[in-house]
Order: sequence, then structure tokens, then C-alpha cells
Amino acid sequence: MPAYKMCCLPGDGIGPEIIAEGKKVLAAVGARFGVDFACEDALIGGAAIDATGEPLPAATLEAAQASDAVLLAAVGGPKWDTTDSSKPRPEQGLLGIRKALGLYTNLRPVQIFAPLAGASTLKPEVIDGVDLMIVRELTGGLYFGARHRYYDEEGAGPDGTPGQRAVDTLEYREYEVERIARQAFEAARRRRGHVTSVDKANVLDTSRMWREVVHRLHDAEYPDVTLDDMLVDNTAMQLINRPAFFDVVVTENMFGDILSDEAAQITGSLGMLASASLGDGVALYEPSHGSAPDIAGKGIANPLAQILSVEMMLRYSFDMGEAADAVHAAVEAVLDEGWRTGDIADASTPTDHVLGTVAMGDKVVERI
Ligand code: IPM
Ligand code: MG
Repeated sequence: MPAYKMCCLPGDGIGPEIIAEGKKVLAAVGARFGVDFACEDALIGGAAIDATGEPLPAATLEAAQASDAVLLAAVGGPKWDTTDSSKPRPEQGLLGIRKALGLYTNLRPVQIFAPLAGASTLKPEVIDGVDLMIVRELTGGLYFGARHRYYDEEGAGPDGTPGQRAVDTLEYREYEVERIARQAFEAARRRRGHVTSVDKANVLDTSRMWREVVHRLHDAEYPDVTLDDMLVDNTAMQLINRPAFFDVVVTENMFGDILSDEAAQITGSLGMLASASLGDGVALYEPSHGSAPDIAGKGIANPLAQILSVEMMLRYSFDMGEAADAVHAAVEAVLDEGWRTGDIADASTPTDHVLGTVAMGDKVVERI
């Protein structure tokens, strides 16, 4: 029987509750398809800061590197919120592991589950046919630029008192743009053959270089893929105006962060958006949402983005397409039958069909 070693990172807030459902689904898949998934938990984020003082302890990174795949839930929360740049933040754990594992490609599929059409704030005719994939560059740009905060005279106000200055640099190298563009073109070939490259080339030099590199690669190796450029502000508008236009959207780290939250709302809830972060080695799978501290511990969080991240793990890390399809079909069936967590329930959902986190996980497991 094939055996895989998973590194599980529950993190903070609703993290422990939703990852438990992800593990349950993985165990059910293992039982049905004859694969042994062994999950070992490690610390990350605020939980790791509390236990060790650091958001990404060395032991966690070692466990991740020694695993076959990493399943992460969410990090962050008000307990660790601070504007003091010298204090550790939970998010540094997440950024640190993305960088250390070289996870430069972040795939965020935005798909409509037909029974949830009513959960979207957009009109049914606008979301009809939406099926897009955001390909977000994940280890460069503003997230990993130089950072400084200091006092100096130029930061002074008109009264001459020294003021602070803060700097974050946005930097990309050609090879970083080329490798993420390649991922986008490859994804497009498996889909509908259309890439929209999103930038801010009317203002930024990084974007001008981005555009050049994307087109050069396209013309040389992917002429069969339709490529268009779109400015990021216009993309923000088009995503809610005509979301079905998009197939693959490729963009830099920060633009991708912002646009993926927006795109999630097309489906009605961020609680439905899974993601895969891929590099050349061990990959990481996590929901695109946060730790939702306001509902943590209440047992009402939507575990489906975590479960759909398990689907992506089966597909990309273990080449278990059939098992991945089974997870997807199980989620579809559960939604078809009318089962909802609070975030995706609408006025037409009977109250006895609104489930908590664990019951929703159980429903999916039953179908598998
Ligand atoms: C995401 C999250 C993270 C990001 C945060 C938690 C650092 O918003 O995965 O989209 O900005 O990348
Ligand atoms: Mg985000």
C-alpha cells in the first residue's frame, strides 16, 4: 500500500477546526483508494509564537521539508496584531515557509458550484459560466522586498520634528516572471487556452518588464494560447463586471493577493476558495482565506476550502486524479442536497440544513 507523510499546520483561529475536517477527508480517501496518509502536526503562526517565540520554528520547516506534502489551515489573529515592526507576526511564518520551500506558483481556482449561485452578491446571469484560475506569483514582489522604517529629517513635518519614513521595495527578476508565466501558459493549455496577464505597466517598471517577458515567452513557446494584458485596476472592475471572460489570470504577488479575495466573492464566500502553492519540491495546500478569529472556536467555520485544498493536493502532489475527482464530487453532492455552513446559507436554506464545521466534514466523508 502506498504511504505518504503529510505535514499538517493547523495555525490559528479556525485553523485547527478546519484542518481536522481536511484530515478526515484525507483518511476517507486513503481508505477508499488504498493509500496510507500519515499526518503529523507542527507549529506555525501565532500558535508557534506562543510556544517558541518564533512564527516558523526550525523544527516545523524540517518537518515540512521531510514530508510528501504540507497541508496548512490559516495563521494570524488580533492577539498578535501589532504595528511594531520588530515584533514577530504570525504571517511571517506563512511567508517564511513559502520562501523556504520555493513555492513560487500559487494556483487559486474560482469555480461556481451551481447550488451556491444564490450565495453570490452578483446576479446569476453575471456569474453564469465562471471558471477561472488565478496564478499568483508567490515568492517575489513587495512581500519579499527590502523593508525599512526609520526616523530622519526628510520624514519631518512642516514644524521640523523628525518623522518616520517607511520603505517597501517592489522588485522582480526576469527569471521569476518567466517561470510564473510558464506555469500560467501550461495551466491555460489544460483549460480553455486563454491567459490574461495583469500588471500596472502604465506606472511601474516591474510591470513593464513583466509584460515584455510574458510576451517573449508567449511568442516563442506558447503561440497557441490567447494572451491579453490587463491593468490591475481595470481587472478589479472586470472581475465583477464580466467574470466569465477570464480563464487563467497571471499576476504578481500583491495584485494576486488582492484580486483573489475579490474573485472569491464571485462564488459567494471566501470559505470556498482552495489553493495550491507549488515549487520544484514539496508543495503546500491551504485555503485562500484567513483565520477568521471572530468565529474561531464556535464550530461554525466552513471547512470546504480546506477540503478542496485536499482535492488539489491529491491532484498535484500524488497524481491521484480519480481520488481528487471523488472529493470534488462529494462536495458537489453535499451542496446539491442543500447542506450549508452559515457563510454560504441564503434566505432559501432551511435552518435544519445549516451545519457546523464537523457535521459538514462528516457529510463529505459519507459521500466519499
Ligand atoms: C493569502 C493571505 C496571506 C497573503 C497573508 C495571511 C500573509 O492573505 O494567502 O492570500 O497575503 O499572502
Ligand atoms: Mg490574501
